[in-house]
Amino acid sequence: MARILVTRILPAGGLDPLVAGGHDIVQRTDDTAFAHDELVAAVGDVDAVVCLLTDRIDEAVLAAGGAGRLQVVANVAVGYDNIDISAAARLGIAVCNTPGVLDETTADLAFLLILAAARLGWEAERDMRAGWEGWGINQYLGRDVHGAVLGLVGYDRIGAAVARRAAGGFGMRVLHHTRHNTGEPGYTDSLDTLLAESDIVSLHIPLNDSTRHLIGRRELGLMPRHGVLVNTARGPVVDEEALADALHAGTIFAAGLDVYEREPEVGQRLLDAPRAVLLPHIGSATLATRSRMARVACAGVCTVLDGGRPANLVTA
Ligand code: GLV
Repeated sequence: MARILVTRILPAGGLDPLVAGGHDIVQRTDDTAFAHDELVAAVGDVDAVVCLLTDRIDEAVLAAGGAGRLQVVANVAVGYDNIDISAAARLGIAVCNTPGVLDETTADLAFLLILAAARLGWEAERDMRAGWEGWGINQYLGRDVHGAVLGLVGYDRIGAAVARRAAGGFGMRVLHHTRHNTGEPGYTDSLDTLLAESDIVSLHIPLNDSTRHLIGRRELGLMPRHGVLVNTARGPVVDEEALADALHAGTIFAAGLDVYEREPEVGQRLLDAPRAVLLPHIGSATLATRSRMARVACAGVCTVLDGGRPANLVTA
């Protein structure tokens, strides 16, 4: 029986694989987050950690994993930029994530942002609550989503799920840009071209050294004035200050964001920006999906502890 630290209370059923494996689960009952130093102290006598994207699992945490005792860290998220995977590899600690189980749910949310931002849905809803002054023919003139050109930056599982919705449901022309040629229709080898030719751009790339601020001032400047930017990937992929400037200056039409550079902080200029739809990182937030993610992470832990190689192993 292994001892497993689970940093937060997981959605119903999430711990099932650990319970079935008969493991000893170490968890706070009040669901308060572990501060970084508390995490460093807590990993000392556990064999595995199940954590969230809000936990910073850096070298200090990993190295505190008791002389070789800590075998695996599983992130209940598909992104794992909160974990120092190079340090984990050096220390011989496996890292797991939750690929494949949140694609459709996250694609749904990307579409919610596409529609809300392009059609000024949030602005209209806010005004409605403040007191509807009546219908007006020139009010809330958004941009059509159907028939528009959608540019996807990143075309892995989530990007492809957004593409299916766009082409199948909304008759959009879908372009995509990735570092390697996908060989699929719509592949655009230049990010600049994709930004210039798309009415709506949606980001679906992981955060790493090569994608940090991939969308900066110059790139935003390539988008058309009617362009809409949607980010459900990771905040630091976009230069938030430059985006706030673009929205304030009206050099792009609107933005729909689910992720931010310094979560949970959101810069005041972005909060004040016109035509910005801002959601609090809820891309995968349905009960079914979050519960599935937790089970996938916990199952990965069990497989590693049993000496196996789980399909959701992240390699450094
Ligand atoms: C959510 O952002 C995830 O990476 O799963």
